[in-house]
Amino acid sequence: MAAIGTTVKQHYVERFGAAERMEHIVLIISFSMLALTGLPQRYANFQIAKDFIELLGGIESIRIMHRFFATLLMAGAIYHGGALTYKIYVRGSSLNMLPTVKDLRDLIGWVLHNLGLRKEHPKMGRYNFGEKAEYLALVWGTLVMIATGFMMWNPIATSKILPAEVIPAARLAHSSEALLAVASIIIWHMYNVHIRRFNRAMFTGKMPVHHMEEEHALELVAMQEGTATPVVPAEIMARRHKRFWPYAVFMTILLTIGLFIFVTFEDSALDTVPRQPVEASVDINPDQGNAEAGAVKWESLQCGRCHGETGQGVPPIPAIRSTRLEFELFAADIRRGPADMPAYGPGQASEQDIADLYAYLRSSLE
Ligand code: HEC
Repeated sequence: MAAIGTTVKQHYVERFGAAERMEHIVLIISFSMLALTGLPQRYANFQIAKDFIELLGGIESIRIMHRFFATLLMAGAIYHGGALTYKIYVRGSSLNMLPTVKDLRDLIGWVLHNLGLRKEHPKMGRYNFGEKAEYLALVWGTLVMIATGFMMWNPIATSKILPAEVIPAARLAHSSEALLAVASIIIWHMYNVHIRRFNRAMFTGKMPVHHMEEEHALELVAMQEGTATPVVPAEIMARRHKRFWPYAVFMTILLTIGLFIFVTFEDSALDTVPRQPVEASVDINPDQGNAEAGAVKWESLQCGRCHGETGQGVPPIPAIRSTRLEFELFAADIRRGPADMPAYGPGQASEQDIADLYAYLRSSLE
């Protein structure tokens, strides 16, 4: 990093290198495209989401796009892990993204300053409390999205290890975390970085000195004193390089294999399997139904929970007491489960049970 000279009046200091800026661009692309292909899936009940999904070629095609950008995001995360290890281990940078007690003091000082209760603005280092919070939220959010994304992407593998209930839970967590992330990018990130003052540092790599004074005063001083980046003697640097690279290559290969397995292991959640038509015809003759046995079944299957205690109906749920439905249609409704009604397979209601229920509903109540 080029520190600014003590006497030369430079207007800009260098803040981000080319690799960091590139990483940010990859993140912008993967994040926005994931939101764009993910949120319509979350809101698939809305017509506008349906239209958008159609526009992108249908649900299977939008799923494939979502997976492509998820893979890009994960590759970016692997790279980030390596770059971070390099900065900390080889270049000897401090863990300057971790929050400290000073951040809490800065936050309080900043609030007081904005309320006009304190004159001076807090002096902050390379990353201020807002940037740290956002970075940690990004790291945490990405880990949650990768873990829950894995469960939805590989549901069969997941349900072999964990109870299958985690899959709908993962889906809820995935789509809620997504909403949170998009909302915080729009509200917090856009406001702080683009609206309050347009901060181009992530694109140009440079930050104006007056801007540094406000947001990173301590780093600016360190740059002027030449202490912003630790000075590591050449031979120590060489030794660290020698240790770092074999480790980095090994980890990259390992994680890339992991990513490959993640992405290719299963494609069961890609196609929407058309609903299997339920075999709804029954062979039994309704005359074989027994009203008393039907009353017992009515209780045990809890039909009355929706249709009213005796089947009298609870609007908008139709009455089925004294139903005029043909037996065939009655049986088909129970097997298929129209609208919000659950479908009852032969395991829950045998043909005899259906005939009994029919007889019970058509009998007169005492
Ligand atoms: C979770 C609530 C719920 C439960 C439990 C339920 N039903 Fe229904 N049922 C409904 C709803 C809602 C409809 C109306 C669907 C529609 O609008 O087409 C319905 C419709 C029906 C119909 C068709 C009525 C008609 O006139 O078209 C029959 C027959 C029926 N239910 C029988 C049963 C039986 C027998 C049981 C118990 C084994 C049962 N239902 C349990 C909610 C339920």
